[in-house]
Amino acid sequence: MSLIKTPIKIRDLTLNSRLVMPPMATSKSEDGKVSDDLLAYYAQRAQGGYIGLIITEHCFISKAGQASENQISVSQDEDIAGLSRLAQTIKKDGSKAILQINHAGLNGFADTVYGPSAIVLPNGKNKDKKVLAFSQDELKELVRQYAEAALRVKKAGFDGVEIHAAHGYLLNQFYTPLLNKREDEYGGSLDKRIRIIIEVVKAVREKVGPDFVVALRLGACDYGFPGTTIDDSIYAAKEFEKASIDLIDITGGCNGFVRKDVTYPGYFKDASAPIKNAVSIPVILTGGISDIKDAEKLLEEGAADLIGVGRALYKDADWAKNAMAE
Ligand SMILES: Cc1cc2nc3c(=O)[nH]c(=O)nc-3n(C[C@H](O)[C@H](O)[C@H](O)COP(=O)(O)O)c2cc1C
Repeated sequence: MSLIKTPIKIRDLTLNSRLVMPPMATSKSEDGKVSDDLLAYYAQRAQGGYIGLIITEHCFISKAGQASENQISVSQDEDIAGLSRLAQTIKKDGSKAILQINHAGLNGFADTVYGPSAIVLPNGKNKDKKVLAFSQDELKELVRQYAEAALRVKKAGFDGVEIHAAHGYLLNQFYTPLLNKREDEYGGSLDKRIRIIIEVVKAVREKVGPDFVVALRLGACDYGFPGTTIDDSIYAAKEFEKASIDLIDITGGCNGFVRKDVTYPGYFKDASAPIKNAVSIPVILTGGISDIKDAEKLLEEGAADLIGVGRALYKDADWAKNAMAE
């Protein structure tokens, strides 16, 4: 029996396969709304229910946290109707649906951007913007916005919500000492740098209740940058589990979702495997996997419990059908 086709339970949610479509921004939204074009894209990938779990692209929790022009909004109650069409589309043939919520922080689209510290990003992306550090009062409001957004995801009929803390976006910016230079209780030691993420997880859990799946996408390590390490991510993952997450989704940090000069399938397994050993919740591994045999091998070797296949599915809507029918 193939492992990739073996069902898995996340809290009370049963996935009919371990194949995950990870979040991928499509830029198909207009004014933050779910468009017909966007629904057609997800409908094609959900067809046949071959993908156990589809995690939507990142959606902004507030205007200030918007990452790009054609991104989907989950920032207001008016968004729920459109998001509910998206949930229905994904779930139609049996795939489960999780929506990713995000605040872009220093990587934002607005003229004024906020981060843990007022820092110009190494890639210079925010160099022409007004850059500010969050005050502690603003952080309280931020936590509230994450929780409100998560409740909208639940009301829209999704099976769960994923908090984005990877790829150099806001919660990753707090986690990494590269971008978090704060001297209050939200910066400095690792415990202090993950404090805001834990507050967000707890606030989200309180809003959505005990039965709704809460996932976290963690940019485990800043490979190649003098920032976070794999040991940091093992410690952090255990803390996030204690704070009540049900699923941890492993990817890269400030290096983004690829690794320079490392291209083997599952190139973040040096983080996902030890994290899997350290926690009892399921772990997703994504990165460089485009052949179902590699997905199977990674499951066999214990690198993760679930495997994400991104760009292959982005390019070819029938990828899952062809791979899972083999
Ligand atoms: C076009 C595109 C958009 C992406 N958007 C997101 C996103 O919204 N949220 C996120 O967490 N990751 C995003 N990613 C990263 C993917 O989820 C995934 O980690 C990455 O593509 C590596 O996996 P792969 O080698 O299977 O493609 C995006 C990747 C691509 C190619």
